[in-house]
Amino acid sequence: MDVSIVGSGYVGTTIAACLANVDHQVTNIDIDEDIVESLNAGESPIHEPGLSELVSEHAGDRLTATTSYAGLPETDISFLTVQTPSREDGSIDVGPLKTAAEMTGAALADLPEGKRHLVIIKSTVTPPHVDTITDAIYGAVPADVADRISVAMNPEFMREGSAVEDFQSPEKMVFGTTDAWATDRLKALYEPIIETQDPDLVETDPRTASMIKYANNGFLAAKVSLINDIGNICKEFDIDGYEVADAIGLDDRISEQFLRSGVGFGGSCFPKDAAAIVAEARESGYESLMLSAALDLNEHQPGRLLELVDDHVDVNGKRVAVLGLAFKPGTDDTRNSRAVPVIEELRERGADVVAYDPVAVSDMRERYPNLSFTAADSAREALAGAHAVVVVTDWDEFATLDEEFDEMATPVVVDGRRTIERREGLFYEGLTW
Ligand code: UGA
Repeated sequence: MDVSIVGSGYVGTTIAACLANVDHQVTNIDIDEDIVESLNAGESPIHEPGLSELVSEHAGDRLTATTSYAGLPETDISFLTVQTPSREDGSIDVGPLKTAAEMTGAALADLPEGKRHLVIIKSTVTPPHVDTITDAIYGAVPADVADRISVAMNPEFMREGSAVEDFQSPEKMVFGTTDAWATDRLKALYEPIIETQDPDLVETDPRTASMIKYANNGFLAAKVSLINDIGNICKEFDIDGYEVADAIGLDDRISEQFLRSGVGFGGSCFPKDAAAIVAEARESGYESLMLSAALDLNEHQPGRLLELVDDHVDVNGKRVAVLGLAFKPGTDDTRNSRAVPVIEELRERGADVVAYDPVAVSDMRERYPNLSFTAADSAREALAGAHAVVVVTDWDEFATLDEEFDEMATPVVVDGRRTIERREGLFYEGLTW
């Protein structure tokens, strides 16, 4: 099939490369000329394992990029994968996506006679905004063309760090459509994946498809907050929260996944999506209790971590090491990383913060230019002379630290991810164990 992809961020680029890899002809449309240039040169604008290889393999052949919408009506399907930034109140700003929808609609005004076209909303938008975007598309096309355009919602469940793999072998696919033709087109598009991976297919309407995405992320975010809440209680009673989690995970209804308690969730999805659906529900007159609580608890975890530091050392004027800046291991992404509130609160206490992360320092500097810390080149360098160390990201390399602790001024280790083993000679505190 001929596929247009509007927006070349993390989702758009991954989908483009993966669809080209299963023999579709893909055109990325992006207003950013640098992104278009880099894609055409075979370079991925984002870092994801396996993505650079796919982009360089298919660029110039099955994968091309442009700033123009002119070729879009000649293609069979277009994806809208434009970002939806958060507003102050947590709701999403659909402005850029709406503009892209209008541009897509305007281009489709020239849909060749006899041709049908499917527009797939891939960006995460709340159910009411599914209507906003759908209206923006139809509002830009003449009535006779509108009959030949279908709009579908097909949310994505990829994780950062394994996006290519998740796209290629999904557990489920959600097709939110309003007509059987659109569902058939989606099945045809994904046929190579459906044939080989046999994912569960959920066929529903576009607004329900949107809600499934928010419910999925909201549920997982709440699961993490719930195990963090239980972990905090365990810590009060001197009980190992991980031992408790392992045991309850044996119950199929609970499952062993997503039961790692600690300093909380970050990233571009859980905090943003949970806040967006809470804000949208509030707008409509419902005050969420559970999802709001999940977000609140997440904001409190960094404070709990630092209370454990306070129990051992007054950090005012002292050097404190922070291990990990990325929101999770395997990525350089620091969006909503728990390291941000941890560093802020340490600074408020007057600490001199030295942070180490194997890959995420420059992303942190770029996104949070006012965050004050010194970057170390290694964990050893960060620990040297420190009066305490806090672990924020569970990078494997932190698990093997050993004699590096000997160089600390006082070996106070407060672990927010259960990465370092409790041992003789350390004043070790696990956040929930
Ligand atoms: C998440 C979802 O897992 C994907 O299914 C979804 O497609 C994606 O959001 C999205 O909406 O785009 P991602 O944000 O990449 O993916 O990261 P996760 O691996 O899910 O981790 C999220 C956060 O939860 C991390 O900060 C992680 O450290 C934390 N977490 C996760 C825990 O604290 N404990 C756990 O047991 C699991």
